[in-house]
Amino acid sequence: PRTMDELAVSGRRVLLRLDLNVPLKDGQVADDTRIRAAAPTVRALAERGAVVVACSHLGRPKGKPEPRYSLAPVAPVLAERSGCPVLFVEDVVGEKAKAAVGEAKPGQVVLLENLRFDPREEANDPEFARALASLADVYVNDAFGAAHRAHASTAGVAQFFAEKAAGPLMLAELAALSKVKDNPQRPLVVIAGGAKISGKLETLQALSQKADVLCLVGGLANTFLLAQGVSVGRSLVEPDLVELARQILEQAHARGTQVVLPVDVVVAENLEAAEGQVVPVSTVPANAMILDVGPQTVKLIASKVGKGTVFWNGPAGVFEKPAFAAGTLAIARALGESQAFTVVGGGESVEAVQLAGVAARISHVSTGGGASLEYLAGATLPGVAALEA
Ligand code: 3PG
Repeated sequence: PRTMDELAVSGRRVLLRLDLNVPLKDGQVADDTRIRAAAPTVRALAERGAVVVACSHLGRPKGKPEPRYSLAPVAPVLAERSGCPVLFVEDVVGEKAKAAVGEAKPGQVVLLENLRFDPREEANDPEFARALASLADVYVNDAFGAAHRAHASTAGVAQFFAEKAAGPLMLAELAALSKVKDNPQRPLVVIAGGAKISGKLETLQALSQKADVLCLVGGLANTFLLAQGVSVGRSLVEPDLVELARQILEQAHARGTQVVLPVDVVVAENLEAAEGQVVPVSTVPANAMILDVGPQTVKLIASKVGKGTVFWNGPAGVFEKPAFAAGTLAIARALGESQAFTVVGGGESVEAVQLAGVAARISHVSTGGGASLEYLAGATLPGVAALEA
């Protein structure tokens, strides 16, 4: 796609699709990572004299306005992080939105209400896309985190613009992730965690064929352990995926990919336990649940991530509970100390590197969860394809 620098924006209205899908708590932004990542783009356009018409989705309100999914709390944070005046308008493509954009001056930012308050956004409805497009002269998509969605604001809208470009965040994300996907510096080490295999299956399959080392942690490792005949007690498993897990292990083995599964784990009877107990993975009690990886597993993984390329997605345990956070935080620190090109994607792993205080030492912290996984699985992202059509 073209870059934003190639577009003439001075005195013109720019429809800027961002991924401002941030967690809210008590009506306040709980994590501003995505807003901070979007701010330089907003500032660059405003400084070049554009009228910035910013838009995003937030959460999954299913086509109906719902106050708890309003983008209103995001506006002051975006203003602060970008240093630009941001006017929030409680409307998506209606008269209020048109009026606000019409009155905005170059250098000002209008933030539209949550695109998903209109069911036509997710339906990629052409009339909605046309209405959105009519608010601006040129289109910039910088919403990498939503690039895997073929929605009106990420895909359909592009056809109504003669001039369109990918924003700098989108390009930085694609550049960093392609260093993992295409000709990575070897060894390529993939650490896959999180609760479940489902949702990551294509990515796991694709990366298990590319990686030199595949480390499986978190809830999803349980199904792989089960596939190897290890008793996992009452741990979370996906029985339907045991056979697929076995196939992934076999394929990895056939290709010579080294697979690292937990050798020791932290178990407890339930999530509410004040502390867990470290046991070898071969002796998980029948009434226990695996809730984190143990120190030997951490050591093993840390010994693999020193050089080459490392991609990490998904925590190694229930890290929102302090009793089961040690494994995930230790993996984060190991990546922070690594000399490898390190990429971390997905909300929870990103949170973990922040919590561990090593985010600045990670080569690339992705703002995309699903988008980064789909891209690494080899999918064409509709949000990128639409800019090239
Ligand atoms: C994300 O958080 O992964 C993106 O903002 C996309 O959100 P979605 O999964 O609701 O489409």
